[in-house]
Amino acid sequence: MDCLTVAMAKGRIANQAIALLEEAGILFSDFTVKSRKLIFMEDSNSIKLIFVKAVDVPTYVEQGPADIGVIGKDVLLEDPKDVYELLDLVIGKCKLSVAGYPELELNELTQLTVASKYPKIAKLHFEQRGIRTNIIELNGSVELAPLIGLADCIVDIVETGTTLKENGLVVIEDVAEVSARLIVNKASYAMKTERIQKFIADVKSGLEVYS
Ligand code: PRP
Repeated sequence: MDCLTVAMAKGRIANQAIALLEEAGILFSDFTVKSRKLIFMEDSNSIKLIFVKAVDVPTYVEQGPADIGVIGKDVLLEDPKDVYELLDLVIGKCKLSVAGYPELELNELTQLTVASKYPKIAKLHFEQRGIRTNIIELNGSVELAPLIGLADCIVDIVETGTTLKENGLVVIEDVAEVSARLIVNKASYAMKTERIQKFIADVKSGLEVYS
């Protein structure tokens, strides 16, 4: 029997997700947080876990090499893919927020320069607010942009708020709630329905213990 392939991004979500899978009785005994290995087999060899860059998880699932993916809602909002989103895993909770200096005021008269790893989400958010923007796409350390005059504000993930605080920035307004989601390839769901439903049921039972 083919194994189910699960794509996951390494890092904060992965560590919590592996712990959640353990609660569900899905064990990857040779996984360690520090390992550089990219593929792990579940102890009964029925599930293959592959680690990919976070933004690539939905692509692996949409294209088919992975049947299932574990990915933050932020990535799904920025770049929607043709996949089923079947479960909120409740882990990896954070917010997408507009942040800047405390004195920043947002109104329809403003023309804002906004730096973000999420250019589409940022553009849509300000369009809905009737605020004109020039969006600058960055790939990391986004909080730096207002500090050195590259942007008036940012749209970024806020988890503990430490990065904003240590850089003298504050949340101006929230854009979206984020948590990890379980996504499924549409053809896999049609062809491996029973196994995928069992996997989801196991994860749900793990969630009850984990959360
Ligand atoms: C994320 C995010 C913020 C930070 C928020 O960055 O983009 O910078 O975490 O977390 P906090 O509210 O707990 O401080 P990440 O660590 O992924 O690094 P990056 O800046 O390279 O994107």
